[in-house]
Amino acid sequence: MKLMFGLPLLYLLLFCATQALGVQIHSTPGFNSDGVIQTELEKVVSLVCQPDSSREPQTDEELVWLRNGALVGLKEGNKEGRSSVCVTPVLYADNGANFTCHLSKNATVSASIILNVTYPPQISGSEEVTVEEESDLLLQCDVEANPPVTNTSWTLNGDEIDLAAGGFTVTNDGFKIQIMANKVEKSLHEGTYECSAYSNKYGQHTKTFSVTLTEKTMKFPLMPMIAGLVVVCLTIILAFASRWKMIAKCCKKITK
Ligand SMILES: *[C@@H]1O[C@H](CO)[C@@H](O)[C@H](O)[C@H]1NC(C)=O
Ligand SMILES: *[C@@H]1O[C@H](CO)[C@@H](O)[C@H](O)[C@H]1NC(C)=O
Repeated sequence: MKLMFGLPLLYLLLFCATQALGVQIHSTPGFNSDGVIQTELEKVVSLVCQPDSSREPQTDEELVWLRNGALVGLKEGNKEGRSSVCVTPVLYADNGANFTCHLSKNATVSASIILNVTYPPQISGSEEVTVEEESDLLLQCDVEANPPVTNTSWTLNGDEIDLAAGGFTVTNDGFKIQIMANKVEKSLHEGTYECSAYSNKYGQHTKTFSVTLTEKTMKFPLMPMIAGLVVVCLTIILAFASRWKMIAKCCKKITK
């Protein structure tokens, strides 16, 4: 008995609730019960805002769109009664963006949705790296992704890296992973390195680095060498000039 009385009351309350909202957003793709639209980079999201159908048909009420609180510029004819906004293409910066639509004359009559842009880590391809012996090695991979990667690793020539043996340091700040070594040696540090990151949504992503160690080059002191060369050249020019004077003098004597 109680239940039978309860249900109509609940429906009545729900009816009031949607009516109080006043405006509605329809989107492609659709959103979940938390108002979150799932999308990916390069995709298109279209949003349409309309006064709620349960609302008194007050025709051509002007609508306003906000993106993260900032006004979205709308063309004439895209404001009254129905207003659409298109996010194309979806970019990294759209992740977490909040789109709100409200009546121009009453901001409390509003509806909002949030974009959840998923993307894989930016790891792919291969890179040639040349390092001089006894200098420092630093390799890094960008592992930022949505949802975040669950696992990252480094290998050297296909094997897990013995961090202690090569004096390696590995860091992970959630955006990039790095491997570093100081005073590298050919026997320990040359080879093919690979970074990997595993995403539950996008799978394994890897990048390889072919690291070649070159012999340490002697660095010549360049500036003193240039200064020395200038002095030598000037001496030669001066010596030649004074001899030329003597030759000229001799010639004068002969012609006299
Ligand atoms: C704005 O809309 C809300 C909800 O419909 C209403 O309670 C409020 O009185 C309205 N404010 C104005 C200024 O019309
Ligand atoms: C965004 O999507 C990812 C992948 O489906 C999910 O793990 C995450 O919880 C979502 N975030 C929000 C705020 O909905």
